[in-house]
Amino acid sequence: MHNVVFVLGPPGSGKGTICAKIQENLGYVHLSAGDLLRAERQREGSEFGALIEQHIRNGSIVPVEITCALLENAMNNSGDAKGFLVDGFPRNEDNLQGWNKQMTGKALIQFVLFLSCPVPICIQRCLNRGQGRTDDNEESLKKRVETYNHQTFPIIEHFEKNGLVREVKSERSVEEIYADVVEVFNQTAKV
Ligand code: C5P
Ligand code: MG
Repeated sequence: MHNVVFVLGPPGSGKGTICAKIQENLGYVHLSAGDLLRAERQREGSEFGALIEQHIRNGSIVPVEITCALLENAMNNSGDAKGFLVDGFPRNEDNLQGWNKQMTGKALIQFVLFLSCPVPICIQRCLNRGQGRTDDNEESLKKRVETYNHQTFPIIEHFEKNGLVREVKSERSVEEIYADVVEVFNQTAKV
């Protein structure tokens, strides 16, 4: 059984940065759904490259069959990690249903780490971060925020109802955010 922590929050809320620190210090393996999709987009011979590119530019969500297969493969190829940080997933109802269908009995959701941050600040961070992403421009960001507000936030609310959400405010320095994150892991995941 894989232990899983889902990491959610608006684009630019610091998911990747915080997950890297958790991986380094707490021994969880960081799996970013977006990174896995970008790697699959680049993979020679991938039949999904064009489809993934289209969704990434539009800020829309790739069908779960593709994303969940990438996540499950990555987990199975990671040896016996104490747990996985599944960053940027599940992003919509399709992601959630597909995960439940494919991963029930194989993965245990420990909790959902919700990095909350006012959207205008997140947008500014994305425009400033200069990672050369094809979707860190104003037009794509507008669509990504739409997707977050209408599709992802309801998924966070769903987990909230099940008592699984641990919210950490991320409009702060990395050190301050990370200190609270460590608290959350100490309380819930028995690191
Ligand atoms: O999480 P990140 O910002 O890296 O995601 C970039 C893009 O990858 C999203 O806007 C979306 O198009 C795609 N994605 C997806 N399904 C996920 C995660 C990311 O389709 N679960
Ligand atoms: Mg990311």
